[in-house]
Amino acid sequence: MRVILLGAPGAGKGTQAKYIMEQFGIPQISTGDMLRAAVKAGSPLGLKVKDIMSSGGLVSDDIIIALVKERIEQPDCAKGFLFDGFPRTIPQAEAMVSANVDIDYVLEIDVADEEIVARLSGRRVHEASGRVYHTIYNPPKVEGKDDETGDALVQRPDDQEETVRKRLGLYHDQTKPLVGFYAARQASTGVKCHKIPGVGSVEEIRQRVLDVLK
Ligand code: AP5
Ligand code: ZN
Repeated sequence: MRVILLGAPGAGKGTQAKYIMEQFGIPQISTGDMLRAAVKAGSPLGLKVKDIMSSGGLVSDDIIIALVKERIEQPDCAKGFLFDGFPRTIPQAEAMVSANVDIDYVLEIDVADEEIVARLSGRRVHEASGRVYHTIYNPPKVEGKDDETGDALVQRPDDQEETVRKRLGLYHDQTKPLVGFYAARQASTGVKCHKIPGVGSVEEIRQRVLDVLK
């Protein structure tokens, strides 16, 4: 099964991705997590993308497409995968069409812009695993610590309000058009497109996602 999770920054893609991968036994492919790992490691890729990411801009399509193509050739992707934060532009989606990567489901997690800013200001992440928490809405068992490892949680550098607004603008301009792109392909490719209301508890959204994927 190949699934795309679409949604604005902070819509809850990463949060729901963890449940979907456990439930269906498919890997989460988060381009954001992959790029953050490269930045942390100080690799050539990381050095190239660091500034653009912390300013809330989009990394170039060429870099992203090469990264994803390499990733989906790994053996753990044979049964499918879950794209989180990819594709994010029409050229990225077209690159998957050209590579004959058929998609089964496109789930758009829908959350209003005003809610996004509150969510991202309280977000805390476990860098090594990508696990996501919120100080109020989804707190860890021990404040500031990851539930599984006990490691310290951190704030992402792109979660400043001004940067969040820039990311939201880019989402509406560049990523939202993908909803129409896939809707137009439903009849010819069989891809199923669903809009999931993204406001409610994490568990409620999880149930909505599972109901669609069953
Ligand atoms: P990326 O890491 O993909 O960031 P994003 O799309 O901006 O999405 P986020 O990770 O911010 O949000 P999310 O939807 O995963 O929400 P989460 O579950 O964490 O990309 C980062 C950067 O990398 C980009 O800006 C770009 O520079 C680059 N990049 C990545 N991919 C790229 C691509 N394909 N092309 C070009 N550039 C690319 O939840 C957010 C918060 O809300 C958390 O605190 C969570 O606990 C809380 N929360 C979750 N669900 C709920 C709920 N139901 N109720 C209340 N709170 C909730
Ligand atoms: Zn995420």
